[in-house]
Amino acid sequence: MYKKIYDKLSTWYVKNGRHSLPWRISNSAYEIYLSEIMLQQTQVKTVLERFYFPFLEKFPTLEALSMGSEDEVLKQWEGLGYYARARNLHKTAQLSISALPTSALELEKLPGIGKSTAHAVACFAFNEALPIMDANVKRILYRFFAIQKCSDKELWNYAYKLFDEQNAYDYNQAMMDIGSLICLHKKPLCEACPFESQCQGKDEPLLYPTKKIKKTKPVREKNILIQRTGKKLAIFQNRDKKLLHGLWGFEQFDSDFKEDDWDYMGEISHHYTHFHLKAKVYQLDTQNADLEFYTLCEVDERALSTADKKVLELFISKSDIL
Ligand code: ADE
Repeated sequence: MYKKIYDKLSTWYVKNGRHSLPWRISNSAYEIYLSEIMLQQTQVKTVLERFYFPFLEKFPTLEALSMGSEDEVLKQWEGLGYYARARNLHKTAQLSISALPTSALELEKLPGIGKSTAHAVACFAFNEALPIMDANVKRILYRFFAIQKCSDKELWNYAYKLFDEQNAYDYNQAMMDIGSLICLHKKPLCEACPFESQCQGKDEPLLYPTKKIKKTKPVREKNILIQRTGKKLAIFQNRDKKLLHGLWGFEQFDSDFKEDDWDYMGEISHHYTHFHLKAKVYQLDTQNADLEFYTLCEVDERALSTADKKVLELFISKSDIL
């Protein structure tokens, strides 16, 4: 049914595909798996320019990763966000011992590997013929089948319907490239699309899928306190399972709590997925024996969230710490 567009897609991919992406050149299952985890919530450019190679330098194999501590893995993930990915990557390395399982069914049982990631790793590393489903692929399917709204289960049915089983590797990689280069969110380039002849949504692609009403994110106002003794700072490891678990940072208080002896330093803001953080930053010189204090070097060895990095930068620029 789709033979003609499969041919067009192949030709398009040979000519326009992003063949030099390192995880496409590699046939190491670990390197492919790492790329898929990083790319789950982060753009190709960011992964490529800042995170993929340094991570592989520090942890060149699954075994090396399994032998690192969670703190070391989080430090290497610092700035990439969605830190559960790093903790699950580490757990998966420890569970897999020397090698990842080779089927999507087994991969999906591991921490942090959902259906699409399992399909991607099984397809790209082990040649299993299964379709994938990221945000870009979803948009193509919605438009190709002119669907305004449907469940994930139905979407998977459409993914299997369009899937070129005979050419799974190129098909999946090409779908991601079409999604990020052609079937663009706001201005799709339908004339250049290999699916154009059979795409049911091509006349009005922006109708598909129906737009979600964006909720405005709540603002969380906080006071952040940097406790110091001389040139050493108190930092704490986050035990809250919901947000930034395992990362280090400074103490946070609700915005209506503040003591008179806190010394105001300035303000930071940071955008999270579900809220905006707006925080006033204070410092306090203290001899509190219950706290553990760290030199700037020791702070730097630990993984801080991006918001806490902003706090630290503000503190360094405004205080006499250096
Ligand atoms: N996003 C997820 N997997 C990808 C891949 N293999 N190439 C480009 N973008 C991706």
